Amino acid sequence: MTQAHPRISKAVIPAAGLGTRFLPATKATPKEMLPVVDKPAIQYVVEEAASAGLDDVLMITGRNKRPLEDHFDRNYELESALQKKGDADRLAKVQESSDLATMHYVRQGDPKGLGHAVLCAAPHVGHEPFAVLLGDDLIDPRDPLLARMVQVQEQHGGSVIALMEVAPEQIHLYGCAAVDATPDSDVVKVHDLVEKPSAADAPSNYAIIGRYVLDPHVFDILRKTEPGRGGEIQLTDALQQLAADEKIGGPVHGVVFKGRRYDTGDRGDYLRAIVQLACEREDLGPDFRTWLRSYVTEEM
Ligand code: UTP
Repeated sequence: MTQAHPRISKAVIPAAGLGTRFLPATKATPKEMLPVVDKPAIQYVVEEAASAGLDDVLMITGRNKRPLEDHFDRNYELESALQKKGDADRLAKVQESSDLATMHYVRQGDPKGLGHAVLCAAPHVGHEPFAVLLGDDLIDPRDPLLARMVQVQEQHGGSVIALMEVAPEQIHLYGCAAVDATPDSDVVKVHDLVEKPSAADAPSNYAIIGRYVLDPHVFDILRKTEPGRGGEIQLTDALQQLAADEKIGGPVHGVVFKGRRYDTGDRGDYLRAIVQLACEREDLGPDFRTWLRSYVTEEM
């Protein structure tokens, strides 16, 4: 429809949550640093932003989050030790994370909810549309989602959220969208959002997952949004207002994602992600699959 929108270049990654579902592991370590096979979960997320062309990344951090900054910075001591050993493969692995994107950090102070974390990005983002990627939601790199969302935002303006169909008994775990179809089979128009509804009250089985492309008007709404469910300032509440009144910041569309996604903030899904990704790895997969097959046959 229009090309008048500036090209989206900024990604915001909220990673200031307390990660209580992973205690005690997250007592002194951010949950985003927990390894998924041999890379911290957060590196997959920054790689995803960079491969969608968003190379300006603002991470929202908080207490205990220093390792996040260190991970995306150079480590000269380690680099020179590996250089001396002539270990080029491992040297490349160490350097990879510091070369991905231009990283910026802001501290949330009090983790008052995802909406509040996103609001902390306002001074950095300014007046451009921007992407939000949740640090504990992992989208398989073979199923690109963010690039499609950026494309839909450039076509329609406004904001774009990522949706996934879930079983009715799962919808109470998510934000849920009331939608209308559009001519594109993977795109819907969102006209209402409800945070964690019961199956009976849910307007659909479209669950909101952790990728967003947002119009900057969301900041004006977040500034006025009162704490909602759980005493936290909810991003869904602000998006609900955007969806209800197109005049504020344009329409809200949803991209329906049918690819592979892992919620690494949940212990069960975290374990499934590791097993699945390890099985598919060229270097580890063959041995690991053989072991897993015999373990499952013998133990189950
Ligand atoms: P979660 O709902 O998973 O919360 O936040 P959490 O605190 O990290 O984890 P649990 O439930 O206590 O185990 C979703 C995303 O929003 C970020 C989190 O870091 C996570 O990436 N978040 C949440 C913030 O940045 N700030 C907040 O105040 C809340």
